[in-house]
Amino acid sequence: MPIWKDLRDRCPIAHSDRHEGSYLPTKYADVQAIAKMPEHFSSRDPLVVPLPEGVRNDKNFEKYGANAPPISSDGAEHAWTRRLLLPHFSPPAVEKHRAYTEDVCHRLIDGFIDSGHVDGATGYAQQIPPRIIAHLLGVDEDRVDDFTYWVRAVLELGLQEPELRVKYRDVIRNFFRETVADRRANPGGDDLISALLTATDPDGNPVDPEIVVGMANLQLVAGIDTTWSSIGSALFHLGTNPEDLERLRAEPELWPGAIEEFLRFYSPVTMARVVDSPVTYGGIDFVPGDKVLMNFPGANHDPDVFEDPDTFIIDRAENRHVAFGAGIHRCAGSNLARLEMDVALRTFVDRIGDFSVQTPIEVSWASGQVRGPRILPITF
Ligand code: HEM
Repeated sequence: MPIWKDLRDRCPIAHSDRHEGSYLPTKYADVQAIAKMPEHFSSRDPLVVPLPEGVRNDKNFEKYGANAPPISSDGAEHAWTRRLLLPHFSPPAVEKHRAYTEDVCHRLIDGFIDSGHVDGATGYAQQIPPRIIAHLLGVDEDRVDDFTYWVRAVLELGLQEPELRVKYRDVIRNFFRETVADRRANPGGDDLISALLTATDPDGNPVDPEIVVGMANLQLVAGIDTTWSSIGSALFHLGTNPEDLERLRAEPELWPGAIEEFLRFYSPVTMARVVDSPVTYGGIDFVPGDKVLMNFPGANHDPDVFEDPDTFIIDRAENRHVAFGAGIHRCAGSNLARLEMDVALRTFVDRIGDFSVQTPIEVSWASGQVRGPRILPITF
């Protein structure tokens, strides 16, 4: 936060040479403006840390980009693939997953409630979203540990180890190739993959199965790490700020606003754009190939928009945060993410009551594309 503040005052769209070079806007208005110029700022390679050169140039990557439509698509392909997903994430559609989410949370808590402690990251937060996504995709719950490791390998561990990242990117893709082939052979399921396979593209043809593979891949990569990071950050906050935990227990009507403040304050996601056509913005002449990091976390701490932005205010009145992004790529899964946060956090607080994070020193955080606690010792 002090670094963003310094940059905002001195150099609001800073440039760094790290990771092949990138621009980093720190002001809310600039992040919003760049998000709303997709004709210049492409999403074809939205990874913060670029993939190794060889992988970026492989045949599949050229044909399907980062292969996770709509997040990695531009223009017409983005519009129709997003349109296919949205009905599955509307408020009534996600409400259908509430009972299952509650059941998952209760089962997890049953497993540790008598012990008086839990790792809030690995033992709770990380366990919830993979199960919900497996349920949504019609995949067996017993694949959950695989899902968790695959996503961490791609988004976290693989940032230092490109081979690991490439290996698990292919593992995920091949897993969904097999799942898609199975659903095509056995149609009629009520899961998302089956539904996408019965949909048509703008030419009226069945959606290319490889696009369905990419969309299923995206559910895993966009829906798991992001949400468990948000749940974990909120548990970290409540376990280190007893006055906020106390207020939520005494005034449960504060929950919806508190969830928005967790999202704003701890915003887990940063994305990237690649400049496709020359454009001048904020005094910078961007040229094709330049990379821009969509600093949603930094925007959410801009004092021009948020009063006292570096203070967590549980009942903040105005909170137009961009934790879910802005413009055409704004998170398609935000209703599901909010539902999972709501159920996971309320159930934990209702059943566990008073709890604390043992020593913040022992907490470890992942950073990069998605930021959140990875070790979170909680006692109660
Ligand atoms: C708290 C949890 C979450 C956060 C903070 C989050 C954040 C984001 C952000 C910032 C973007 C914009 C990406 C960009 O501008 O390039 C995005 C896009 C997206 N998210 Fe989420 N997300 C979360 C959970 C989910 C879940 C649970 C799902 C679905 C299961 C999901 C599905 C998507 C999809 C499909 C997109 C791409 C939309 C498009 O390109 O049109 N997200 N998310």
